[in-house]
This record gives sequence, structure tokens and C-alpha cells, in this order.
Amino acid sequence: MFDIQVLQGIEKPLNFTGGKRPSNKGIKHTAHLGSPQTQRVISNNDAATMQQSFPMNGGDGPHSYRNNSHFQRQDMNVSRTMIEEAIAKKLDVKCFSSNPFRLANLGCSVGPNTFIAMQHIVEAVERRYLVQGLKSEMPEFQVFFNDHVGNDFNTLFASLPTERRYFACGVPGSFHGRLFPESSIHFMFSSHALHWLSKVPEELLDKNSPAWNRGRIHYTSGPEEVSHAYAAQFEHDMEIFLSARAKELVVGGMIVFLILALPNGIPASQNPYGIMFDLLGSCLMDMAKEGLISEAQVDSFNLPIHLASPEQMTELVERNECLTIERMELVNSRSKLVGPINGKEYAMYLRAGLEGIFAQHFGSGIIDQLFDSFSKKIMESSHQLESGNKEGILLFVVLRRK
Ligand SMILES: C[S@@+](CC[C@H](N)C(=O)[O-])C[C@H]1O[C@@H](n2cnc3c(N)ncnc32)[C@H](O)[C@@H]1O
Repeated sequence: MFDIQVLQGIEKPLNFTGGKRPSNKGIKHTAHLGSPQTQRVISNNDAATMQQSFPMNGGDGPHSYRNNSHFQRQDMNVSRTMIEEAIAKKLDVKCFSSNPFRLANLGCSVGPNTFIAMQHIVEAVERRYLVQGLKSEMPEFQVFFNDHVGNDFNTLFASLPTERRYFACGVPGSFHGRLFPESSIHFMFSSHALHWLSKVPEELLDKNSPAWNRGRIHYTSGPEEVSHAYAAQFEHDMEIFLSARAKELVVGGMIVFLILALPNGIPASQNPYGIMFDLLGSCLMDMAKEGLISEAQVDSFNLPIHLASPEQMTELVERNECLTIERMELVNSRSKLVGPINGKEYAMYLRAGLEGIFAQHFGSGIIDQLFDSFSKKIMESSHQLESGNKEGILLFVVLRRK
């Protein structure tokens, strides 16, 4: 009767003969990752798939991600040599027949970090073609910049480097679902994005559940049931992510990602991010005591962010039969995140990424006060942050499509 092709959040009805267009509400994209032709529905609209999306602060203002993402940039620079090594040793460009060479950055935000990463990767791939004796077959490059539909793509594209050596496209939609046609991408990269869950685990909001997260905004320092609910959501999301990427990568293609992490067996309460999330939660509880917000609002708010361990990530990748682990290791960030604490700088860093999610739940009126008090609290707790686990707060992962 009908066939709907939905690519990158755009629905295009094909051969639709009915009077009223059938709804695809309730159809889960995961069910169709390997489905036959008749079920070619790839709904990657965040609203349609019930996913939550909280883009970083857009624009170019004092609180924008663009002007407050140098910690992430420093982290990415730490892994630059590792990315180059992965391309030099593991990417066999001889087995790619198609031109152009297609790259994707998943969770790109607004730059400039994404441009720096894409430039480095293009250069490393070019070197690989030269080393493999394929100078005459040097491809053109096409970069797909992906993020949620609410990302500030205008700022992203307005600041594209003029000297770039690639063609640029935007791909709106969640990476917790299909984004590209089958076997179409040669290299994917994602930095500081995969720790975002597709949604807050439902049991956290159920007052009758042991995972009801009263008085906290994250699983750090919470009961075991809360951590388990977060871990289960992360596993569900990553399974979808990996299965979608396995479909989209060409054979021999590669995905490299950097994700916030915890070493095996280390509690989140010893991780700089865990400590900061607890501090943000206690700022909110102080505001509730002052009557600026209600305790019920704090009880019903949870940050959809999970810190993965290498053990957990290994298990998840191994469940996917199409991807092999080429390298996985914890990276010791050299960013200021583990150096001397500057409360204001930390507050600006977190605000650029989290303002949207707090404003949506508590209203934008509390934001200035929330991050002011966070910047004071973090100075008072700097000993805790400095003595926390500094080893490996990021996980560097290289996977290859079999
Ligand atoms: C901290 S920013 C990182 C941006 C950039 N990669 C960097 O390293 O500076 C995380 C980005 O991931 C995006 N993101 C989170 N979940 C996503 C999802 N499911 N699909 C696409 N993008 C997502 C956010 O919207 C945000 O722009």
C-alpha cells in the first residue's frame, strides 16, 4: 500500500495511495536496522523516537559552546596521535573503491573542535593514500556533520573554515538510530558525545521504584539501583548505536570515539565529572531550601549522562558481530579539568553544555545563580576534585567494520 522513506529526519512518502497518510508513530527505528525492503522506515526524528535532546549553547556569545569548549579541545588534542596511528596502521584504503571518501562526525556541536578534528583526519587519510602508493587515486573528501536537530547548525556552517579540503554537509538527527545509507561511510569520529543517553531511565522518575533518585541529579553517590538503571539505558543506547554504525560503515571502515569514562571498579564519586554533578545537585538542593525551586523539581530531574568503563564498552562491542576492537584505552586527559581549579572557568565550561537541560526543567531564571553558586562550591571542594581519580577520565576506542 505505501512505502515511506525517511532519511535524516525528512519524511518522503513514496507511492502513497491512501487518502490519509498513515502515521509511523510508535514504529521504532531499531526494529528496521536489518529489515527487508518493505519496511524501509528509518525514522530519525528525535521527537518521533521519543529521544531527548539538549544541544550545547549555540551562537557566539559569552556562554556559547563555541567559546567555552577548550577543555574538550585539549582532550581531543591528547588523542590526536592515537587517531593518526589508527589510520596509519589499521585503515586499508586499498579496499575502498568509491570516490569520494566519506567521513562523519557524530555529535559535532558548533565548532571549532569538529573542524580541527576533521582537518586532522583528512590529512591522516591523505597520508595513508600516499603511503599505500595510491597518489593517483587520491579521493575527494566529503564530511557529514551530525548532531541533534536542535543543534545550532547555522553557527556551525557560518564558521566552516574557508581553507578546508572537504565538501561539507549537515546530518540532523540522533546517532541513536540510522543516519546514513548502508555501506556508505568510510570513517566516523565522535568526541565527548556518546556519554549522552537517549533519555533518562524511566524508573528514576517512579516514586515507588528503588531507583527513585530523590535529592540527587545523577547516579554518583546514589543507590546501586540508580547506577544499574543508568547502565542499562547506556547499554541499550550503545547497542543501537553500534548496530546502526555497523550498517553504515563500508567493510574495512573505521569508527573512532572518545567518551567520558571511569576505570573499571572506580566509583563515579571519585571521578571529576561525578564530583561536579554532585556539586551541581547540592547547589539545586540549596536553592530548594531557599524556596527558589521545589525539592520535587530536584527529585524529578536527572542528568542523562553515563560514564562508561572499558569493561562495559568491551562487552558491548563484542555483542556486535560486525565490529572488531582495534584499540581501546583510557586516556589521561591533560586538560585543565584535572589541573588547578578555576571556579569560574569550570562553571562556564559546564554551563555551555548543560544550560539547556537545566533551563528546560527549572526555568531559565535560575541559571545565573545556579552556575554562580557552582563556581563557589567547586573552589570550596577543590581538594576533593584534585584528589579524585585523574587516571583515564576518557576512553579512546577504535573499531573496524569486518
Ligand atoms: C560536548 S558536545 C561535543 C561536541 C564536539 N564533538 C566536541 O568535541 O567539541 C556533545 C554533542 O553531542 C550531541 N549529541 C548528544 N547526543 C546526541 C545524539 N543522540 N545524536 C546526535 N548528537 C548528539 C550534543 O547535541 C552535543 O552537540
